[in-house]
Amino acid sequence: MASSISDQKFISLTNDFFSYVMRITDSGQLEHVYYGPTITVSEDLDLDPRVERALCSVYEGLKNENLNELSMEYPCFGRSDYREPTLKGRNKDGNSIFSFEYHSHEILEDKPTIRGLPSARGGMSQTLKLVMVDKYLQLELQLFYTIYDKHAVLTKSSKLVNRSDHKIILEKIASSSLEFPAGDYDVLHLHGTWSRELNTERLPLARGRFVIDSKRGSSSAAHNPFVAVLESDASEDHGKVFATALMYSGNFEISLEKGEYESIRVVTGINPHDFSWHLEAGGQLDTPEVIHVFSSNGLRQMSHTWQSFIVEKVSPLRFKDKVRPSYLNTWEACYFDVSSEKVLHLADRAVELGLDMLVLDDGWFGKRNDDTTSLGDWESDRDKFPEGIAALAKMVKAKGLKFGLWFEPEMINPSSELYRQHPEWVIQVPGRKASLGRNQLTLDLSQVAVVEHIFSLMDKHLSSCEIDYVKWDMNRNFTELGSTSLAAERQGELGHRYILGLYELISRLTEKHPEVLFENCASGGNRMDLGMLSYFPQTWTSDMCDPIGRLEIIHGASYLFPMDVLAAYIGPSPNHQNGRVTSLDSRFLAGFFCGARGISLNEADIDANLEDLKTYIQKIKSTQQEMLGGRFDRLLKRDNRVSWQFTTRDQSKVYVLCFQILSATNLPITRVRLVGLEKKRKYRLLSEDKTYGGDTLMHMGLTFPHVSAWNKTSSIRRMDGRDFTAYLFELNRI
Ligand code: DGJ
Repeated sequence: MASSISDQKFISLTNDFFSYVMRITDSGQLEHVYYGPTITVSEDLDLDPRVERALCSVYEGLKNENLNELSMEYPCFGRSDYREPTLKGRNKDGNSIFSFEYHSHEILEDKPTIRGLPSARGGMSQTLKLVMVDKYLQLELQLFYTIYDKHAVLTKSSKLVNRSDHKIILEKIASSSLEFPAGDYDVLHLHGTWSRELNTERLPLARGRFVIDSKRGSSSAAHNPFVAVLESDASEDHGKVFATALMYSGNFEISLEKGEYESIRVVTGINPHDFSWHLEAGGQLDTPEVIHVFSSNGLRQMSHTWQSFIVEKVSPLRFKDKVRPSYLNTWEACYFDVSSEKVLHLADRAVELGLDMLVLDDGWFGKRNDDTTSLGDWESDRDKFPEGIAALAKMVKAKGLKFGLWFEPEMINPSSELYRQHPEWVIQVPGRKASLGRNQLTLDLSQVAVVEHIFSLMDKHLSSCEIDYVKWDMNRNFTELGSTSLAAERQGELGHRYILGLYELISRLTEKHPEVLFENCASGGNRMDLGMLSYFPQTWTSDMCDPIGRLEIIHGASYLFPMDVLAAYIGPSPNHQNGRVTSLDSRFLAGFFCGARGISLNEADIDANLEDLKTYIQKIKSTQQEMLGGRFDRLLKRDNRVSWQFTTRDQSKVYVLCFQILSATNLPITRVRLVGLEKKRKYRLLSEDKTYGGDTLMHMGLTFPHVSAWNKTSSIRRMDGRDFTAYLFELNRI
């Protein structure tokens, strides 16, 4: 790994996976030169020529220095570049011209943290700090680039320091810009909505701009803050892929633009929509970190890089090799109708089933008999829990279980004691009646007093209640975004200040209570991003517990997230969201590769499936240690059929899961080809007592189980001839 600057003013970041090369031009611009497989930068590089073009302006009259054509590292608007800029605003003169030239750079062995924001951990990494200056405005722009020895990852962030004695108003400040030479590219992104998160869409990048964003306050289920730019012929195992994810949990924008000379610019950062920031004289503003992943071998290699990087460098280290307790969650078993008696009964059932933890979900506090009331009043409902939650926790734990509790700390119902006491703590604008989401409003985390209040109440619960796990939920998007504590001209800062308040709150809580396992949740996957996952080691993937609904969600999640961080429990059938009736078997198997597993079933459902549930939970327990840090692969997704592979970290066990979504008869024979095995080793297929070579499994594969309602021939590997069936192959390396 090396970061270097050459005589020709190339600045190069190179490791075994890629090179990222920039150049300081004679006019002081920071030109982007190359990003791709590792190259030798010490030799000549054939740079883009400065072509003479009609109808083009040139920077400061310099011959052919047409910034609209040049690949730029941190492009600004108004000095001959008409493409999407990284920075917008109003300077002291009231115009929008910001213009930075190279000043200096240094190489840091320790990766700096970002004030108030999460960032990937360093270690076996080098950071390049580039300083650019706008001499006229006396602004300093610091650009940070980190590369790692062992990961095909480049992280970037920016910081603007106002060294003048004037205020400037920022309307956009991106974290990163990438440029790709003219060519044919596709974009892959993950979109969705409540209960249908993380759908995959792949599109050719057309001329113009393609933007994914969130204006909702959270990173959102509508678009995950992730894109991959692919060479148009790239596939799962072939071609170059350049992926980007923003480590941020609020409003974001990723803009992909194919400009008039057909190069691609990808600008990533906080959403400029409804954003403005008054940067006072002497002030500074840091941007969230962007993580870029490079793969020269398609989407599979890209996903492996994300999965291992998140485990090694993003997810809280103290949970890295810890198995996640399997749990019984009360939500779909009882909804709001919880009580001491019911919870203790369910705790007994959890013990009987061999689960590790009882999680008391919504409904335990205030007068919370439905979703119209009590968010904000985080004291036990004494009608339901006469001895209080602390006593209940003790009773549950006396049974040998861990105890988990649901909170939605950022929210408030107008019908609550807290609202009566502090209406000014709520996000609101004057003169407008607030829109409600799930009958609730959002607390204004830009206010120090609000963050303090939530911190002390959570701290009190965590200190007194013997809580092992917290499900941190968040169930509405921003509307009427305004703060009672910000001056009129600073209202545009609220979206980002909210996220800074949130990060401060959760970083203090997780630091003070490092032993508590926090699960991220926002109506399922409405805030499933690397920001939240840097504080919370696991995330509730979706409220969609139906196995078929979940297939698409886990498929989408696997592009980016390691299975270690995903939580998925067995829910009831018929499913409460889409009414689908499925077997316990397929409900169990759809979430089998996820790191945090369990059930949310009532006593009748438990009774009806007792022995099967015991078997499945035993399976969870016996596999959870070996599955930590394992590798997930997408094998097949076609014609009603889905197949995934999971390989344990030590590679000694391989699971292949096959789903037949709708039944059909007389189907063609489909082969599932395994990936990433050791070709010279042998693998024993346990259910059939057969041994195959690694090369055979990868090239010839296994046949997808035959589906038939009538052909029960036992010599054929078969699945039931009905809808929504699943089949698990287990192979041991010998
Ligand atoms: C939304 C979550 O996604 C559910 O799992 C559940 O915790 C409910 N909130 C409780 O209100």
